Amino acid sequence: MNAPPAVTAYPHLFSPVTIGTRTLRNRIVHASMSTHYAAAGRVTPRLIDYYANRARGGASMLVSEPMAMLSWQNLPTRPAILFGINAGELTRWADAVGEHGSLMLGQIQDNGRGFRSGFRNPNAFGPSALPDDLSGTVPHALSTGQIERMIAEFVQSALALQQAGFAGVEISAGHGHLFHQFLAARSNVREDRYGGDLAGRATLLLDLIAALRSTCGSDFIIGTKLPAEDGMPDGIDLEAAAQITTLVHATGQVDYLTYCWGAHGDTLYEHLPDLHGPRTPYVDRIAALGRAAPGMPLGALGLITDPNEGERIVRDGLADLVMLGRPLVTDPAWGIKAEAGREAQIRYCVSCNTCWHMINVGRGLHCDNNPRVGAPDEADWTPEPAPVRRKIVIIGAGIAGMEAAWVAAARGHDVTVFAASHEAGGKTRLHALLPGGENLSSIYDYQRLAAERAGAVFRWNMPATAADIIALAPDHVVLATGATPAWPDYLPAEYRGEGFFPDLREAMADLAQRPGRQAGTAVIHDSDGTAFVYAAAELLNDRFERVVILTDRERLAADEAMVTRQGVYARLGRKGIDFVTSVRPLATSRFEEGELAYADVFSGRQTVLTDVALFTYATARIPDVALEAPLRAAGLEVRTIGDAYAPRTVLAATSEGYHAAMSF
Ligand SMILES: Cc1cc2nc3c(=O)[nH]c(=O)nc-3n(C[C@H](O)[C@H](O)[C@H](O)COP(=O)(O)O)c2cc1C
Repeated sequence: MNAPPAVTAYPHLFSPVTIGTRTLRNRIVHASMSTHYAAAGRVTPRLIDYYANRARGGASMLVSEPMAMLSWQNLPTRPAILFGINAGELTRWADAVGEHGSLMLGQIQDNGRGFRSGFRNPNAFGPSALPDDLSGTVPHALSTGQIERMIAEFVQSALALQQAGFAGVEISAGHGHLFHQFLAARSNVREDRYGGDLAGRATLLLDLIAALRSTCGSDFIIGTKLPAEDGMPDGIDLEAAAQITTLVHATGQVDYLTYCWGAHGDTLYEHLPDLHGPRTPYVDRIAALGRAAPGMPLGALGLITDPNEGERIVRDGLADLVMLGRPLVTDPAWGIKAEAGREAQIRYCVSCNTCWHMINVGRGLHCDNNPRVGAPDEADWTPEPAPVRRKIVIIGAGIAGMEAAWVAAARGHDVTVFAASHEAGGKTRLHALLPGGENLSSIYDYQRLAAERAGAVFRWNMPATAADIIALAPDHVVLATGATPAWPDYLPAEYRGEGFFPDLREAMADLAQRPGRQAGTAVIHDSDGTAFVYAAAELLNDRFERVVILTDRERLAADEAMVTRQGVYARLGRKGIDFVTSVRPLATSRFEEGELAYADVFSGRQTVLTDVALFTYATARIPDVALEAPLRAAGLEVRTIGDAYAPRTVLAATSEGYHAAMSF
């Protein structure tokens, strides 16, 4: 491993800071993220490994996922605190983080009425019987006595954490969850001391802070994550957030503050900013809010992905802590790599929100650009050498083939990659050229650099034939040749292969080379439902007078995380891009006259679009596996991965590339 330089390029990011009575060795803090690695409420080895690796990788303070601290919190994926079932594991967890000189904080949170499973939560509690904006859940309004009991249970749980070696807690008071619901007039119409004006609505938060401090003492860190702008009517805006900040500051009991955006409604996506907006979008507003709490350490948060951004934030006095969520899922060693000047070896977050999607579909935290989240030796991992050096031929330099290439080469195998084009990345490279896709290049840039460093040989611009591969006499072949959108059966067969009707990838590759606007309407038939389609629609919107998306599915972006889907709808709406759901184009369309007919899939009702200048389609992808049979017939061992195995996601591609390389 490269030794760290005597002087880091980020002296402010790697300078110590005092939080309460504790000193952190640097400014990098792991922001709270649900991993869902607990099972039946039990802390698992994977959960501990996840946090220990981020401590080893350079985070000086880590905020956990929300813990089960109340008698009504019984989600199996939350580490249970209140009932003591994890006593030994909590100590092991705090010790595993402490071993690296880092502090572990537990997050205090309850969802209240907030629910995002697509149906109502029948067991929700909240400040008032008013509906959740996402699910329509109307909670049971907590009695004053229940609130007092809840505070007591939070404090009892915090004490258990303290006894286990946790350095403190963070109160999650944003994201539209319970504390936020108390703070906002939209969700709190109580008439007891926990309602009324803003000061009244902040009473739950302030009472909890006071109770935590008096029980856990002055050495226990108490942080708060407050709502900044939730974007909802009668919600929290910057002015209210500043007033809440003043109230929190006046307690004199809080050790750091940070903020979040959005709420449990159609603004939820704002809590996970992506490259469709500016980088570090919230830092200036966080700095301004922090002025309402002079002297209190402030955490910047939100799409801070690059060490230079972290350095600037601390150097310019915008915040004291650099809180990283998704970037530390992608690379737990973000900190030590930055400190040592190894920025090119960081796997950067591509803000795809697969992590968020995976916990919401019950699979636990996963990452498109890190196939090893939660592995015991995850931080700054280099593969162990393989027992026997094998000759491996990889066909395809998309992200599945490239992941296999770098891992196999780093394990010491003799790796040759056949690439059909002169560049790595495949269709992900095309996506990276589209609005909001820029960061995706980090996936294949990292892979290529790592593969070349490890000695993989690339044959660029060489669509391999079976004979080429057989001639190399490989021990293993990895087929990562991807998939191609199916030719739509409603298009005139005589035009197939003529280029008049490009699929969406061909259309994007063409437009990326050709600037300038055109008259008429561009129409996309979308059966795919992935982010690529809507990024392409945005590019088309810059180039054509009008863009219409027709999808046979019930909604757009059906294969994406709900937060990503919200962002898609928000941008399409703002840009005036039209879409129609549950429709199919018709073979009766008069394409030569610029007319496209489509029908509603349920009613059959037909509509005709005129002035169609471009028709393009993102139909179901069909695997490109023409080489599979001849290679197998020649007796070669072939492993088919990624879209060539079955067209799916980026996550499936990188994960299968990794697992293939580890199996040789
Ligand atoms: C998968 C995932 C789970 C999250 N879970 C929580 C949570 O339980 N509590 C919380 O306060 N924030 C949660 N967040 C929000 C993060 O703490 C952070 O505010 C957000 O990701 C923005 O920071 P980033 O751009 O560095 O990712 C979660 C974020 C992600 C991506």
